[in-house]
Amino acid sequence: MIFEPDLYRAVLGRFASGVTAVATVYEGDFHGTTVSAFSAVSIDPPLIMICINNDSDINTLISRSGIFSVNILSEQQVGISKTLAQKNPNSNQGSKLEGIKYSLGENGCPIFDDTLAFLECDVYEDIIAGDHRIYIGEVERGGLSDKMDKPLIHFEGKYSSI
Ligand SMILES: Cc1cc2nc3c(=O)[nH]c(=O)nc-3n(C[C@H](O)[C@H](O)[C@H](O)COP(=O)(O)O)c2cc1C
Repeated sequence: MIFEPDLYRAVLGRFASGVTAVATVYEGDFHGTTVSAFSAVSIDPPLIMICINNDSDINTLISRSGIFSVNILSEQQVGISKTLAQKNPNSNQGSKLEGIKYSLGENGCPIFDDTLAFLECDVYEDIIAGDHRIYIGEVERGGLSDKMDKPLIHFEGKYSSI
């Protein structure tokens, strides 16, 4: 580590990012997680990446299913971001997705209602990088919402808008 962790986090927090809801399904078990570490990687082939903490419960499901969706949240969807950023204390209490409206994409992953846009991906590569995993996703399908809300922004640890 070149400098101390608090400063490292503060520097990263100065990078304003959008907020996504990443979702997957494995054997009927649906799961979603809030992810701001999302980026385009390649146009041809169409590849994107997400970085997920090793402690995140969604890792097991994405690793097994090999599929996930990325849903780009609007500023109206802070509630979804907060809900999916919570840990499921006990999986017997039901999915975190209960109460959130979604349909199923062609690959079976949840596509949340009223987001700005979505992508359906196959896992192209899964890389262990420190305390996170990088999932490179090959985009199979995507779509745009008809209504154009402003994006949800995350900056210096707080929700914001443009
Ligand atoms: C705005 C925001 C952005 C986040 N971005 C990420 C991220 O990029 N990667 C990650 O692993 N966790 C991220 N998190 C934290 C996860 O959503 C959180 O750890 C969640 O509890 C993981 O859920 P799971 O264990 O059920 O998969 C973010 C949380 C918030 C509120």
